[in-house]
Amino acid sequence: MEIYREFHLGQFRFTRDDYFAHIFFPTQAGRPMEHKMDIDAFLRPLQRDVAWGFFYGMVKFDDIFGTINHYGTVEVFGGKYHKALRENGLWHAEELDRDEVERVFVEMLEDWVPADFDPFAAPRETGSAIGPKRQGNPAAIHRKRVVTTRMIKQEERQDPDYPINAGFAGMQFIYGEMHIKPGHEHKFGLVNLYEYLARSDVTWNPSIVSVVEHSLFCPTTEEHKLPVKHGNDRVEWFIQLNGQIDWEICDQRTGELRAFVRMRPGDVCAMPADIQHQGFAPERSMLLVWENADPDMPQKIRSGAIPGDPDKMVTMK
Ligand code: PHB
Ligand code: FE
Repeated sequence: MEIYREFHLGQFRFTRDDYFAHIFFPTQAGRPMEHKMDIDAFLRPLQRDVAWGFFYGMVKFDDIFGTINHYGTVEVFGGKYHKALRENGLWHAEELDRDEVERVFVEMLEDWVPADFDPFAAPRETGSAIGPKRQGNPAAIHRKRVVTTRMIKQEERQDPDYPINAGFAGMQFIYGEMHIKPGHEHKFGLVNLYEYLARSDVTWNPSIVSVVEHSLFCPTTEEHKLPVKHGNDRVEWFIQLNGQIDWEICDQRTGELRAFVRMRPGDVCAMPADIQHQGFAPERSMLLVWENADPDMPQKIRSGAIPGDPDKMVTMK
């Protein structure tokens, strides 16, 4: 019988069985740790960490294990940003080459994600990752974002046809009006962002729809919970387009609870650079994530040139 493979990354060792991912690591205190996560709760963040190229800053798979993007290298940590484990020396971290971490994470996905489980889907849309080794799901884990080669609505442009997600069935898409000077009609097109999002076949996976210098608009559809706790290395904005998302906000370095935020359509919220956030969406909803992709941003915040606290960035009288 075929069994799940075991993986190594620095001194971290990863195994999976029917129910759990097991993460083994040495600790400062000298006592080795074995950390367990439910297998689906491990595979969902693993998939996103790979798809997002380790994202901005910290991606916590749970309170104990995760990665920090240093843009070239990646810190892989266990226990380091958990208050009790850190204080008791029960932690380990290694800074590794980003390509090595990516290679091992991808191999892990290829071996551990079964054909009946899609880590990008909402729980209601996919089967379970539980159980013995079986065929994998390469189509789901190697899914690439659709990259535009033509301007929107331009002739010859081929848009893939995704169905409206059941979570948005019946939603009305009201298109705007265009009044174009005769002869220039072919240069313009109307897009309905709600319709675009309603056709998204993934959850908690922002797509970049506009880029203006470092300003990235990354809308996404959300259902169930964000599989990671994101500790950003810069300020990040959320604009709730539809539905409701509750956010749990904790200190990035200790995991201690700081705040709850409930966002309803039209609500705007800015997340400081020293917290981690995890969103909970009881029904499929639409969120616009606004990121600043300035590669110097972490350094600007560290040096104090730019505040990591949005309160100090905007003055609202
Ligand atoms: C975030 O960490 O800010 C984030 C990630 C994925 C999403 C939404 C928000 O889909
Ligand atoms: Fe975030």
